[in-house]
Amino acid sequence: MVAVAKLRQIFVCATPGEGRCGGKGGGALLEAFREEVERRGLSPSAVLRNACTRRHHEGPVVFVYPDDVWYTQVTLEDVVEIVERHLTPARVES
Ligand code: FES
Repeated sequence: MVAVAKLRQIFVCATPGEGRCGGKGGGALLEAFREEVERRGLSPSAVLRNACTRRHHEGPVVFVYPDDVWYTQVTLEDVVEIVERHLTPARVES
């Protein structure tokens, strides 16, 4: 039996504008996720910029596919935990 890691991706909203995720630190957050994934030797495609999903009142928002998990009011301090929770080898499934 061969275990195959399912593709998981973290979508970070960094849409610019006052009151939008980008205005609440989404850009720095996107960069921090990219750096954390690179530091761990994971594929750069594991982190993508997300389009506005009309949830910026809770922003910055982060969505994890295909886990269907949303994080709201995400800060730089949350980056490591989110990456570990969703992208670490412990998540390999058969
Ligand atoms: S700008 Fe992020 S949800 Fe709208």
